[in-house]
Amino acid sequence: MHNIPHVPVLYREVIETFKDIKNGIIIDCTLGYGGHTSMILESNPHVHIIAIDQDQTAIDFSTQRLEKFGDRVTIKKGRFSSVIQEILDEYDTSEIKGVFADIGVSSLQLDQKERGFSYESDNLDMRMDKSALLQASIVVNEYSQTDLETILLEYGELRNFKKITSIIMQNRPFYSAKELSQTLSPYLPKGKKIHPATLLMQAIRIEVNDELGELKALLRSIENAGFIDTKIAVIAFHSLEDRIVKQTFSRWSKSCICPNEAMRCTCGNNHALGKIKTKKPVTAQADELKKNPRSRSAKLRVFTMDTYERKE
Ligand SMILES: C[S@@+](CC[C@H](N)C(=O)[O-])C[C@H]1O[C@@H](n2cnc3c(N)ncnc32)[C@H](O)[C@@H]1O
Repeated sequence: MHNIPHVPVLYREVIETFKDIKNGIIIDCTLGYGGHTSMILESNPHVHIIAIDQDQTAIDFSTQRLEKFGDRVTIKKGRFSSVIQEILDEYDTSEIKGVFADIGVSSLQLDQKERGFSYESDNLDMRMDKSALLQASIVVNEYSQTDLETILLEYGELRNFKKITSIIMQNRPFYSAKELSQTLSPYLPKGKKIHPATLLMQAIRIEVNDELGELKALLRSIENAGFIDTKIAVIAFHSLEDRIVKQTFSRWSKSCICPNEAMRCTCGNNHALGKIKTKKPVTAQADELKKNPRSRSAKLRVFTMDTYERKE
């Protein structure tokens, strides 16, 4: 196999999470370049993986990479928000023992300049699925001032979102990410660890791929699936995603769902869907940080669903 274009993050911790599953299916919602999928299949001979990605380049690469596992792996193309629903309709939920998501973009998507994810790109695209209709050029050149302000504030957490939006409005149309980041560079925050345009690019990318909507929809499908003894593991790369995962797992773990102001519990106190396995998010160890700097912002959270116990 030729060069692997993406090094999987927190790979030891992901292997550990799924290694004791005796029999059943794991859904890998973000196949990418097949790193995590192949490691899970190698470390646990009892599982079958159904893997999803919306990027055809990633699917083509991984189909070849995972050939050696034969029928132990099934690959599906599409957004995980809808494909997971199809899987849940097709399989008995008791067969599904794990759901894994390594949210965000792959290193190859970032590195391939023609995909438009990098601030040095010569175009403005950023679609994970190249057949999707919405691309970055539409967001930057056609969205209203109010919509752009909202995106820069909510998805980029840029404090001077109004100023940045007004510079975009005055100077558009933009034809490349490079042109956009160079024009805005005097107004972007200058952090020590990240390039000034990173948060701007992040905000546009989240909008183009509806990343937070996808994550929320995925967690909703998992919540409603009625899983019995299923491990849910999510790796997030920025605080917006991690907050969604953290708050959802916290809500799932609560037995009592009475309002805070209730004097006594009237809900039956049996609503927990399972247990949080990672009180704090798991982050990369020093040796991984050294080898793979991209792992520095990765946070893994794990939840075990045991609806069965609740029903008993
Ligand atoms: C960080 S990479 C995953 C890398 C993978 N774990 C590996 O070891 O190679 C994220 C992948 O998920 C895909 N992806 C992100 N959001 C998606 C979504 N909503 N639906 C389907 N695929 C998605 C991206 O196209 C990308 O290939």
